[in-house]
Amino acid sequence: MLKIGHRGACGYAPENTLKSFQRAIDLGVDMIELDVHLCKSGELIVIHDDTVDRTTDGSGFVKKLKLKDLKKMNTGEGERIPTLEEVLDLVNRRVRVNIELKGPKTAKPVMKLIEEYVKKKGWNIDDFIISSFSRRELKKARAINPLIQMGFLISRFRLLDYWWLSFAEKIGAYFIGPSLKITSKRLIRKAHKHGLRVYIWTVNDPKDIERMRRWGADGVFSNFP
Ligand code: G3P
Ligand code: MG
Repeated sequence: MLKIGHRGACGYAPENTLKSFQRAIDLGVDMIELDVHLCKSGELIVIHDDTVDRTTDGSGFVKKLKLKDLKKMNTGEGERIPTLEEVLDLVNRRVRVNIELKGPKTAKPVMKLIEEYVKKKGWNIDDFIISSFSRRELKKARAINPLIQMGFLISRFRLLDYWWLSFAEKIGAYFIGPSLKITSKRLIRKAHKHGLRVYIWTVNDPKDIERMRRWGADGVFSNFP
């Protein structure tokens, strides 16, 4: 079962910061997870919310702020909001990187950056996994690159049992990412039957981690990896 550092190791350091990603690597994760948005000046920014209010001492929407202004903000413990490039350069292929397309219109620039890292910086396409709740972004990423591994994130039950399956198959997903709350043994079995891996978020309690392992989960995202 893969150990995936959620927003780095955000139980130990400010989420989605270089410090958090370094901490996750020090703790021996197999992969880090991060969230991306586009800012006003066009760079890919590693931040979870669409505003900076919760995680920094600033305020406002990320898409309305320029990189130079975002960089003035403090995300705690003296850390700054990193760009996706800064995180990739820190990671330097030591672990795999799961880029969650959180903001709109992130698929295209993320895929462009990945291609650059593969062509010019010695990264392998398998060093990356793209994921999202947004079907639109996943579809766009798949249209750009037929090989990239992708994960479809799901957080709720719908009336139609296994509603996620047809979309996951359509885009050729590598994994599905259900929240711990909706995960069942049955769901894991169903996904496996269709060749999909199951990475569950966010699993912090050791008892839950053990239960996911027993149920055959392929990975867990944890704040305390
Ligand atoms: O990718 C798993 C998890 O990160 C999805 O939820 O809100 O933490 O981005 P969230
Ligand atoms: Mg995320």
